[in-house]
Amino acid sequence: MKQQLPQRLRVSPRSAAYLVVLVGVLRAASCEPLVAKCNPGDSEVYCQCVTKSPRGGNTVSIKCDFENKEAVVLNKELFNFRNSSLVSAYVRMVNATSVHVTKEFLQEWMQAPSAALDIWRGGNLTLESMPPLDSYDKHASYRTFAGVGIVSCNVPEVPTMFLRDRTRGGFRIKTSTVGSFRKGVLHNMKQMRYLVLEDTVVEAVDGSVATEGFVTLSRREVHSWTGLILSNVTIHRVGEGAFNLTHQSDMETAEVTNSYLGTVETGALIAAGDISVTIKGNYFQRLEKAAFQVDVTGEVKFDENVIASWAPDALEGLMCHNRTTLERNTVRVDTPHQVALNESSTPFHTSCGNPQIFLVITPSHPLAVQVTTVSTWVLAALLIILLLATLSMYIWRSQEGITRYYNRGRFPIILNGRKSSQENLPNNAEINVPAQEATEEGITNTLYTNEES
Ligand SMILES: *[C@@H]1O[C@H](CO)[C@@H](O)[C@H](O)[C@H]1NC(C)=O
Ligand SMILES: *[C@@H]1O[C@H](CO)[C@@H](O)[C@H](O)[C@H]1NC(C)=O
Ligand SMILES: *[C@@H]1O[C@H](CO)[C@@H](O)[C@H](O)[C@H]1NC(C)=O
Ligand SMILES: *[C@@H]1O[C@H](CO)[C@@H](O)[C@H](O)[C@H]1NC(C)=O
Ligand SMILES: *[C@@H]1O[C@H](CO)[C@@H](O)[C@H](O)[C@H]1NC(C)=O
Ligand SMILES: *[C@@H]1O[C@H](CO)[C@@H](O)[C@H](O)[C@H]1NC(C)=O
Ligand SMILES: *[C@@H]1O[C@H](CO)[C@@H](O)[C@H](O)[C@H]1NC(C)=O
Repeated sequence: MKQQLPQRLRVSPRSAAYLVVLVGVLRAASCEPLVAKCNPGDSEVYCQCVTKSPRGGNTVSIKCDFENKEAVVLNKELFNFRNSSLVSAYVRMVNATSVHVTKEFLQEWMQAPSAALDIWRGGNLTLESMPPLDSYDKHASYRTFAGVGIVSCNVPEVPTMFLRDRTRGGFRIKTSTVGSFRKGVLHNMKQMRYLVLEDTVVEAVDGSVATEGFVTLSRREVHSWTGLILSNVTIHRVGEGAFNLTHQSDMETAEVTNSYLGTVETGALIAAGDISVTIKGNYFQRLEKAAFQVDVTGEVKFDENVIASWAPDALEGLMCHNRTTLERNTVRVDTPHQVALNESSTPFHTSCGNPQIFLVITPSHPLAVQVTTVSTWVLAALLIILLLATLSMYIWRSQEGITRYYNRGRFPIILNGRKSSQENLPNNAEINVPAQEATEEGITNTLYTNEES
């Protein structure tokens, strides 16, 4: 049952390029959580701590696999490298039944200018806020980095100031369930390489994810992900000003794809400057006033979304330009006339011209309607007639000099209108049925490469 305690390798630090310490863990009492440690212990061996001293400076890597047997606490006993002049630290905790990441641990871990923490299959994951670094001044001039990756955990709360005081950072959560993503999870992070939520269910993003009220993206092609990515997520509430993005120098990216967003409050996604924005294949339960405020030089794609309910000015902040697509979106309206005869009641900004929206499903139970039912087709047929009427109005208006980039002629628009009600409605709504449990799916590509530039 027990593994044998591996031999500890002793290497004189001077001659050594590598110092390998295989590590055990000490248990205070059998029912208490395990304190993960980087010292040789006398019981089960779960962790491997490797320090290296290559030319670039000292590094440490701590990898633990708890074999689904242990509830684990990370505190300063795990990370005792204060005097080691580390340049980078990598900590990975895998297969624990629960993990508690204490502020004492975070404070020690952040002593390394480049610090990365991965927690995979960590069961219930408790995260604490990070206190200010006690040696912050020493590091202030460094090009520091901190990255956190959470895969397949149940995280009741991502607390405020969980990541702080770095020149660059990254944060990724995959196949997890999250309760509250608090306001100001990021504090004094000068640039973010990536901020990613994938295949994850989040109860609420309470407000701006950064205490400063905005996030500066900066690009570096280390991973297959970069910028803001919300992909296949369910977020029941995206609070006011949640993701307010700006950019450093390169063209950055923001993507919201294949997701279910419940209430999307004012300024939930704000993007300005050199950013490409893709909002595609989502279901929005409710868009509040100016939910998206996108005024960027990069491409803007707002395609194949379903909007169940929207404030009249919900998309007034989504500015279109000549590299914008608005394809096959579906918007629920209570009566076809409302939209078809009155263009000012469409949710889009006038810079977006005549978007190829629509439509129409019954007012009361939009998701219950099968697209192939007779009533839908009756409505769709009605709509086509109404759209024809609308088109003549648009054409007439464009002769007045109103520019409409997306008016591609009658028939494609009508066909798109039909296709959109056919393709989008039931399917998209059901892709993102909230999963209560993180799945045990394979983990790919989650390794961090520490930043050294
Ligand atoms: C680190 O070094 C300081 C003095 O530089 C010393 O007081 C302290 O005990 C050392 N800590 C450890 C853990 O070695
Ligand atoms: C963790 O557990 C899973 C299945 O329980 C196993 O496949 C995997 O090898 C374990 N270790 C790591 C590092 O994922
Ligand atoms: C995780 O927390 C939930 C409540 O938040 C609890 O019901 C469950 O038993 C916990 N699981 C573990 C493995 O501790
Ligand atoms: C989307 O995320 C859910 C978990 O929320 C997962 O079960 C599902 O497999 C994911 N779908 C895809 C296509 O990755
Ligand atoms: C978004 O961030 C910009 C700075 O990039 C700031 O000027 C603006 O006030 C912020 N908007 C909101 C709603 O917080
Ligand atoms: C798009 O508009 C910009 C100015 O807003 C112009 O420089 C560019 O040439 C235009 N591109 C196309 C393909 O029309
Ligand atoms: C068109 O819609 C707007 C806003 O929804 C409303 O104020 C206006 O009265 C409507 N016009 C007509 C002719 O119905």
